[in-house]
Amino acid sequence: MGNKIWKGRIEKNTDKTVDKFTCSIDVDKSLYLYDLTGTAAYAIGLNKIGIIPDDELKKIIYGLKTVKKNIEEGSIDTSLYEDIHSLVESELGKIIGDAGMKIHTGRSRNDQVVLDEKLFVKDALIDIISKILALQGNILKIAESKIDIIIPAYTHMQKAQPVLLSHYFLSFFKKFERDTDNLFFNFETCDYMPLGAAACAGSGYKLDRKLLKELLEFKDLDSNSMDIVGNRDFIIDFIYSCSKIMLHLSSLCEDLIIYNTSEFSFIEIDEDFCTGSSIMPQKKNPDVLELIRGKSSLVIGSLMQSMILLKGLPSTYNRDLQEDKKILLGAYKETSASVEIFSKLLEKIKFNSIKINNALKEGFLEATDIADYLVKKGESFRKAHNIVGKIVRFCIDKKISFKDLEMEELKNYSPYFESDIHDMVEIHSCISSKKVECGTEKGQVILNIESGKKKIKDSWNKLKDLIKRTPKFEKIIKYIDA
Ligand code: ARG
Repeated sequence: MGNKIWKGRIEKNTDKTVDKFTCSIDVDKSLYLYDLTGTAAYAIGLNKIGIIPDDELKKIIYGLKTVKKNIEEGSIDTSLYEDIHSLVESELGKIIGDAGMKIHTGRSRNDQVVLDEKLFVKDALIDIISKILALQGNILKIAESKIDIIIPAYTHMQKAQPVLLSHYFLSFFKKFERDTDNLFFNFETCDYMPLGAAACAGSGYKLDRKLLKELLEFKDLDSNSMDIVGNRDFIIDFIYSCSKIMLHLSSLCEDLIIYNTSEFSFIEIDEDFCTGSSIMPQKKNPDVLELIRGKSSLVIGSLMQSMILLKGLPSTYNRDLQEDKKILLGAYKETSASVEIFSKLLEKIKFNSIKINNALKEGFLEATDIADYLVKKGESFRKAHNIVGKIVRFCIDKKISFKDLEMEELKNYSPYFESDIHDMVEIHSCISSKKVECGTEKGQVILNIESGKKKIKDSWNKLKDLIKRTPKFEKIIKYIDA
């Protein structure tokens, strides 16, 4: 690694093992477009304050375009460089000579790296928001098309009460809605332009930071150089949002893995999304769902890693921070891929109404509604709870269900029982009685589907605005007629 931009003070050649140990190019080369975009904008900024004359600016822009092309064609030996910033500066120098030597004036890799990471996070947020919105769209499609399917809801993994399948799916829609809100918020807190901070004290040149902010499409200027170079809160925020997404996905996956077992058979996962066993010929395993559940550990681990990386770190830039890229890129990659594949898997899920209906017949899912029935007739809830508990006990012992009980038998338990109880034990009545806005009654669920659709539509529009708030290399270089 001969191309060190910091040679001068260090006379000796660094040990080869040190070169290898300190170099981050293998990871941060994927940030090349952000580094080039930031550098192009910075060159324009230096031109504005007279550090780089017009002719040299043109050369720089031409040079950056060539570096971009060379990186994309794979014609640069990246192993020669310590990091992406050194690569861009040195390769630029090779193409345009001395003009390239001015590009780092009043800039440090400390503010440069924060810029690259912020630009990366803004794009990553847009990508993940768009994938979550697509997933939410698929959830709504199921909720709408399967509105009449009733499933048992479970608490403690024990049958609890009947609910609409749509209501179940909307419960995850809601979680992803909160995730989207978080991601939009993360975009705002990340959106402050860091250039001008330089190493830690602020640039010694009167940079036009407003111009840089506009070229790089930031909402506002970041304001304290010492904070800027050590700030990685936007990375923690991003990974926290990713972790929540993965938590939500992994519990949805867990449900679906259970519903897909032959014991449940509520759903069938399309063969496109299953794998076989190398030894057991009959197997059709839900590996995609299991892998998402597994990958959630990586993302949540990344959140811990990013926080531990920062814990107790002295102010401003410390080289520890170099490790944040591995963490950030990994968390993004796993989250983005998981949301995308899950969304596709969902499109092809089939529901087995026969198995679901059979499951509704056992487990006394209507017990709470019968207690509510007695309360509506005049009984206190605690007594009603006790009465129905005793009836359940009796039915379990006799191996019968509520429906098998005669009116006289019921009257023995409570005088409040009347002939209309038979309608009450119908599973549909259990659904239609949950009319509270957050409940599973069909009309409420339909309202929630409608408001979900509106929310997604608004979010797509909001996302379109965010896309406008990210810089494009091609647009920046058009600023200069190179
Ligand atoms: N590769 C470094 C990183 O990712 C860039 C900043 C290096 N700054 C320094 N002062 N050594 O953090």
